[in-house]
Order: sequence, then structure tokens, then C-alpha cells
Amino acid sequence: MNVLVIGSGGREHAIVWKVSQSPGLTKLYALPGNPGTAELAENVSGISVDDYAAIIVFCKDKQIELVIVGPEAPLAAGLVDSLSAEGIRCFGPSQAAAQIEASKSFAKDFMARHTIPTAKYETFSNYDEAVQYLESVDYPIVIKASGLAAGKGVILPDTLEEAKSTLEDILVKRVFGDAGTEVVIEERMTGQEVSLMAFTDGTSVVPMLPAQDHKRLLDGDEGPNTGGMGAYAPAPIFTAEMMDEAVEHVLKPAVIGMKREGNPFVGVLYAGLMLTLNGIRVLEFNCRFGDPETQVVLPLLETDLLEIAGACVDGRLNEMNIYWKKGAAVCVVLASKGYPDKVESGKVVSIEKLPDDMVCFHAGTKLENGNLITSGGRVFGLTAWGEDIEGAFKKVYSNINKASFGGMQYRRDIAHRALS
Ligand code: AMP
Ligand code: GLY
Repeated sequence: MNVLVIGSGGREHAIVWKVSQSPGLTKLYALPGNPGTAELAENVSGISVDDYAAIIVFCKDKQIELVIVGPEAPLAAGLVDSLSAEGIRCFGPSQAAAQIEASKSFAKDFMARHTIPTAKYETFSNYDEAVQYLESVDYPIVIKASGLAAGKGVILPDTLEEAKSTLEDILVKRVFGDAGTEVVIEERMTGQEVSLMAFTDGTSVVPMLPAQDHKRLLDGDEGPNTGGMGAYAPAPIFTAEMMDEAVEHVLKPAVIGMKREGNPFVGVLYAGLMLTLNGIRVLEFNCRFGDPETQVVLPLLETDLLEIAGACVDGRLNEMNIYWKKGAAVCVVLASKGYPDKVESGKVVSIEKLPDDMVCFHAGTKLENGNLITSGGRVFGLTAWGEDIEGAFKKVYSNINKASFGGMQYRRDIAHRALS
């Protein structure tokens, strides 16, 4: 089978890495890919991810039998609808189904319609009405730009004053552009967070291993929020009972609800969960694999990803048995100096050979005149797996200097919650 993976980050390198091991694979392409995917697939240059007509021509020309879409933006923009209309099979949701991530107001109303547990909320597009509401609620709260804001649209104001100025930024000054035409204002919950991704064919749903992401820049969960500084899986805090609760009260109602509403969701449904004293609550849904969670979950997947993706697209996920390796994986993100603000790029990178059971996923690198250089905030995700979290933790940190570049920064405490 010829396969095309869309995207260029660490998540997409992890998808390419896993698909490249599939016995059913004939030829693998990545669009646009990165220098890491280039070692396992043919990177496609000269076609923009927004140019659906060119992607369709490419797929027909190369006889692509499956397209796997990594990032949320092309899913929310309708790439899968355009390709599917041409008979090209895609693993990923339609534009209508991708709303579960692309519109937080849609997601919250959807959860309310299907009694999926989540924080209490109200939605506003009018600034004065939102301020009036802010004056009536208990603090602290959470304010979210409803649309896609590259992970930056969630603000946690502690006082009414902060909340008002956040509202003004989003609704009036439009700091997140059109993503901020609407805001969701929620009660603030507390508890540990777990990322639970699941495969779904629109009817059946099979959860992956639960993972934990580390969103803050610095050790001890200090510093600004980032796209994710590391992850580990499985998260031992997420017990078998919690998994049952999440499947019954979150994943199944979501998949069945989307189907009933006429927007069957095919692909990876990601539930961002908070484990509160009152039970599991959904923080958000994403319509795709998580990053960096994918970089720890896919190395533990025993079953052929291509078979699973095919079964999802064909609506026969219930026929599949999905197996996981025993043990655990830890991924440490190596970031550029300045991340998550203004980053230094263009630094020369070196990577030495890694031991078995380790892989270096590229996220922000590029080749220039034959040299590998940094080209983004998160440069690599260095993943190790082993018998348990401690083993994977030791392996990844004892090999961390095998990748290096000027200004490299990383957290020293990924997986600390599982180890302490
Ligand atoms: P989201 O993109 O909606 O998952 O929000 C990003 C992050 O903001 C989450 O991972 C949480 O750390 C935090 N967050 C979002 N909603 C809430 C909430 N209702 N209560 C507490 N923290 C929240
Ligand atoms: N790790 C969070 C996300 O992928 O959205």
C-alpha cells in the first residue's frame, strides 16, 4: 500500500516511523515531512498543505491508498472532505467532525447534549455580556478563545480585573484573530491531567495507553506554557477503573454522539482529561494524535498502525485486536534557546547513534547546504522505552547529550509524577 502522511512535526515523524515498520507498506511519502521523516519516507516538496487540488493530483499520480493527516489545521479546514470526495481514503475526521477541536463552543455544547462530564461553562461573543457574567461568577475561572489558537488560547485569570483584560484581548483586540470571535468561560477545576487518545471508525472506539504531557517550560511545572516539553506513557495514575469510566462516560458517548448528529468521527479522538475529586472531567477534545504524546504512545504500540488506520477508515475497527508492548516510554523534548517566545534557530545540530529502544524524533530541524540545523522551538523529541518508567527515564536522560545544538534546553524531570 502507498501511504501519505501530512505534517512536519515530531508527531508526524513518530507516525512515519511506526508506519514504516508495517508489512503492508509499499511506498511511504511525507508532505512536507522533515529531515527525520526523510530517512524513512520520501518527503514531498513544492506542494502546500493548503493546496488540495495539488494533493489530489499527487495522490492519484502516486496511487496513494491511504492518507494520514497529522495536524488539526488541515483537518479543521476540510482536507479530508476534499480528498474523500475524490475517492482517496483518509485516516482523519471530516471538517464537521473536526469541530470537536476547532470550536470549543461546539465541543462544550456537544458535551452538554451528550452528558459528557466537563466543567460548567457559558459562551459569549459580546464583550459587555461577558463582562456582566464575569461579575457574577466565583473565581478562579478559565477563559478560552473558542477557535484554533495553536495551544495559546486558554487563559487562567485569578481575579476579575485579569479576567476583564483577558476578555478585552480576545473579543475586542482579537489577539487570537478569528479564533477569538467567541469565548468560553469555565469554572476552574483542579487535578492531574491525562491525555487519552483513542482510535475510532465512527462507531467503535479503542483507547490507546494513557499518557501525561508536561506543558510548562521548566522543572517542577514552573514557567510559561509550551506546546509540550515531554511526555510518558502509560500514566500509572490512570487506573483500570478510570479507563473504564473514561470509555463509558467520555469516549463512547462522544463517538456515538458524533455519529447520531450526522458527523461520524473517523481517526484519532483525543480526550484531555482532568482527574478531579468528583471524577473524570473533559478539559478538551482534539481531533488528532497529540504531540508529544504520540512520541511515547506509538513506540509502545505492538499492532500494525497501518492495519488499524485501514480498519478505522473501512468501519471495521471492531474486527481488530490491538496490542501494546509491556513497559513504558519517556520522551524529552529538546528545545531551542528562547522557546516558547522568540527562538534562536539556524544552530548546527549533531546526533550520535542511539542505543536500541530509543529514537530521536525531529520536530524543528532542516537541512541547509548538507548541514542539519535547528528551525523551530521544539527541535527533537528524544524517546526511550523499557521495562518500566524508571528504566525508560534513565535511558533517555543518560543519552540526552547524544543530540546537541547551541542553546539546547530541556526539562530534567519528565515523568516525575510517575516516579515520585
Ligand atoms: P485546553 O486546551 O482546553 O485543554 O486547555 C489547556 C490547559 O488549560 C489544560 O491542559 C489545563 O491545564 C488548563 N485548563 C483548561 N480548562 C481548564 C479548567 N476548566 N480548569 C482548570 N484548568 C483548565
Ligand atoms: N499535547 C497536547 C496536544 O497535542 O494538543
